[in-house]
Parts: sequence; C-alpha cells; structure tokens
Amino acid sequence: MGANVMGISADLQASLCAALNDDMVLTDADEMLRFCRDWHGDVTSSAVAVLRPRSTGDVSAAVRACRTLNLSIVPQGGNTGLVLGGIPDQPANQVIISLERMNAIRNIDADDFSAIVEAGCILSEIKDWVADKDMYFPLALGAQGSCRIGGNVSTNAGGINVLRYGMTRELVLGLEVVLPDGTIFNGLSTLRKDNRGIDLKQLFIGAEGTLGIVTAVSIKLTPFPDQVVTALLGLNSLDDAIKLYRRARRDCCDLMSAFEFMPPLAFVLAKEAIPDLPMPIAGDYAAYVLMEVSGSGLVDISDLMERFLGGVMEDGLVVDGVIAASQAQARNLWLFREGMNEGQAKRGSHLRTDVSVPLSRLADFVRDAEQGVSDALPDCISVSYGHVGDGNVHLNVLPPPGLSPEEAATRIYSAKTVVNAIVDSYNGSISAEHGIGRLKRVDFEKRLDPSRRALLTALKQAIDPSMVMNPGCQLNFTGTS
Ligand code: FAD
Ligand code: LAC
Ligand code: ZN
Repeated sequence: MGANVMGISADLQASLCAALNDDMVLTDADEMLRFCRDWHGDVTSSAVAVLRPRSTGDVSAAVRACRTLNLSIVPQGGNTGLVLGGIPDQPANQVIISLERMNAIRNIDADDFSAIVEAGCILSEIKDWVADKDMYFPLALGAQGSCRIGGNVSTNAGGINVLRYGMTRELVLGLEVVLPDGTIFNGLSTLRKDNRGIDLKQLFIGAEGTLGIVTAVSIKLTPFPDQVVTALLGLNSLDDAIKLYRRARRDCCDLMSAFEFMPPLAFVLAKEAIPDLPMPIAGDYAAYVLMEVSGSGLVDISDLMERFLGGVMEDGLVVDGVIAASQAQARNLWLFREGMNEGQAKRGSHLRTDVSVPLSRLADFVRDAEQGVSDALPDCISVSYGHVGDGNVHLNVLPPPGLSPEEAATRIYSAKTVVNAIVDSYNGSISAEHGIGRLKRVDFEKRLDPSRRALLTALKQAIDPSMVMNPGCQLNFTGTS
C-alpha cells in the first residue's frame, strides 16, 4: 500500500485500525475534513487519522498506539481555537485525538458548588446542566456552543466574564490527564483548598496539548445569577469607557460581570452577518460599551444599574444608553458583539490580534496602534474591540476588498508587525487569551527571555521527552527564530 497526495501512508492507517477498536479510527479524507480545517477556514490540513476515544482508557490506548507507530499527537476539542493549536502541520506524521465523544458529566455536587465533567463536554451544555440545579459555570465566550471544556482548559480561555470570575485557570479545581507515555494522572480533586506542594494541574492549563491530553475536569460553580441586567451605552471616547469601567467597579459593588468595548463599525459588521438585527441605540457615538451586572439572592440588580447609569449620565460620562427590557432584548444586544466576529470573517482574510496592556494605558495603546496601522497601510481598516475591563483588546485589521490572496497576506503580515511592535513598547502581551498555538509560536519564541525559555524547555523534556505531544505548537522551540 502507498501514500496519498498529502503523503499519508495507508500502511500506517491500517496499523492504527488494527491496534485500536475500529469504531475509534477515522481515516476517510472527507470524514476527517471538519477536524482538519480551522474555524475561519484559513487553513485546511489533513492527518494520518482522527481517533475518537469514548473513555480515558481509550485515550491511553490511543496514545500508546501512536507511540508504537512513531506518530505524534494533536489533541482536539471543539476546534474553535483561533491560533491553529489543534490543526496538524505535518499531516503525514500526525494523528488528531478528538475528545468529542467523551462528553459525560461524572458528577454535579450542589453542596460543594462543583462538578466533574469529561473533556469533550460542550461549554454551553455544561452551563445548561448546572443551571438546572440552580448553579452557574461562569466561563462565557462567543464559541460556547461548540468549544469543549478540555479545549477551554488547554487554552486557558478568557471571554466576557473574566473581570469578575477570572480566566479558566481560576475555575478549575482538578484535572485528569493522559500523559505522553499513556499513563493516567488522576488529579480530579474538588477541594477548594489543597496546598500539598506544587499544584500539578497548573502545568496542563494553557499548555495547548503539549504536555498531555486532558480527559476530565473538576470545575468550580457559583450560585445561578437569577438577576442579570444588560445595557448598551454610547460614549464619546475609549478614554471615557476606561473611566466608566473604574467607576462601575466601585459603584456596582464588584457585581459587574461583563464590560465589553465596541467601535461604531461593530454594528455594520454584525449586520453584515445577521442582517435582521434591530438597531438597539440611536445616534453614532465614538465608542460603545456593553455592560452587564448580575447577582443572586437579596440584592436588587435593576435598581443598582438604574442608579449607576443615572449618575454617570448626569456626569456626562455616558451620552446615551439602552437597558434590555427582556432576555430576548439582552440576547439581541449580545448578538452585536458576537456577530462582529462573523462579519469580519465574511470580509475575508484579515489580521486578528488578541493583545493586552495595563488597563491604565489601553486607550493610548489603541490610539497608537490604530495610527501605526493607518500610517503603514492606509487602505486597511482597524477594528478594535473586546474585553477592555481586562486590558484585552482584539485590534483587528481588515484589508480592502478585491486584493489577491498574496496581497492580503502581505498586508496582514505588515499589520501584525506594526501592532506587535507597539504592544512590546507598552510591555504588553501578544496573546491575552487565545494562546500561542502554531500561529504565534515564532512571535512567542522571539520574545522569551532566556530563563523562562530554559524552564519551559526543561518542563517539556521532563514530561514529553520524545516530543510526541502537539509538535509545532507553543513549546516546541526550534531555536531558529
Ligand atoms: P480546540 O480548538 O479544539 O483546541 C485548542 C487547543 O487546545 C489546541 O492546541 C488543542 O491541541 C488543545 N486541546 C483541545 N482539547 C484538548 C484536550 N482535551 N487536552 C489537551 N489539549 C487539548 N477564546 C477566548 O479565550 N475568549 C473569547 O472570547 C473567545 N471567543 C471566541 C469566539 C469565536 C466566534 C471563536 C470561533 C473562538 C473564540 N475563542 C475565544 C477561541 C476558542 O473558542 C477558545 O480558545 C476555546 O477555549 C477553544 O476550545 P476548543 O474546544 O474549541 O479547543
Ligand atoms: C472575542 C474573541 C475573538 O472576544 O476572543 O470575540
Ligand atoms: Zn476575546
């Protein structure tokens, strides 16, 4: 038997099928396609096979089979990652292990406010299951209908509720992980306090599958916030948005759960993706904030929000605003924020960034970076939006329509170089929440100081000495950048 056009050996595929339960192995190119293409459709790759285990034991067997056949492993959850961490870059030698069939809830404990869920559970389904028991899992992001908790843990995902509840790392109580030699690390504790030395689960959170495969997660829950008030506000500038954020944290008793910034172009982009969306607010302001305050129990969230908005409007910090009168209206407001991503995707290839700077310098950063992009690339449009309460902005750059793929790629590269240089000058991060993956590995490696690099290299060598886990992604330094 030979190899196909991607250099994928039919012998290797047959060996995998022989070693593992037939039902676990996909080798048909059409069936594998959805696992091999990224969410935006920028990259389409392939793989020797996609393995779909149903249990932790299956994952262990799959890892051991790959080791025996000298194949490396690309773990995958919902394949919504934005930095190509879950897409093979050497298809002739890589196998995707998809966790999508490991989607059982192992336990929900209302007294402990915790749950144990398998890595393939879809985030929004976890939120629904625990809501049935009057509890809340606070991780929230636009991809929550498709991303899976193992992927969220492996990217240490952020999203819209970080300012109140923290990144995924802060919501994880324990992990079960299949290590690169196939052994199982059982760290599925639900203890809130456990200070018995180094906290090993932290090694795997944000590791993007380079140290092992997360198979189950103990998560931290909170009481379900049965009062949620959402408002869309029109402001005169991003500077005012930052001032508003500081004031809201104090005035709203830290009950604010989201504070997202959008430019006027957000409405245009969202309507390009969802044309029927009703315009929620009149006028054309320089900046918009989508703000949410939420709580449970005896506190009156509506009253809190109304009094807060009354004060900031009187002071001129907010020029206009609308408070959602129903859950449906609140959902429509969020659709503008979420629809922006789809609207940009519809405009074709573009630069997507995910940067953070100290909150006190965010408005200056956005001004400098947008100016830098427009000086270097006058025919491109910058769109800055995101989780400003976390100092995290997605400063994206859209090339004009009608360019060839090469012309667009050149502009995207130039725009990235401009933005990253300005991030560096602000001592910021080139990846606030999306991770490194394959897309940012070289830029990450360039910025690593020697001591951090040495520690990361030692860690990789200790846990995955044969370098089988997700080569090309994050920790696999080439030393050539
Ligand atoms: P995948 O894409 O499948 O994988 C991501 C990485 O984790 C890969 O490196 C993969 O190898 C590794 N991995 C996956 N599962 C496992 C496992 N079980 N064990 C070990 N490694 C594993 N991200 C944010 O942080 N904030 C946002 O607000 C946000 N919004 C988004 C909105 C949209 C519309 C989209 C498309 C994406 C968004 N993302 C956001 C990015 C993405 O949703 C997150 O990174 C998410 O956590 C990825 O989960 P996933 O299950 O899709 O992982
Ligand atoms: C968002 C993704 C892009 O915030 O992180 O919409
Ligand atoms: Zn984001």
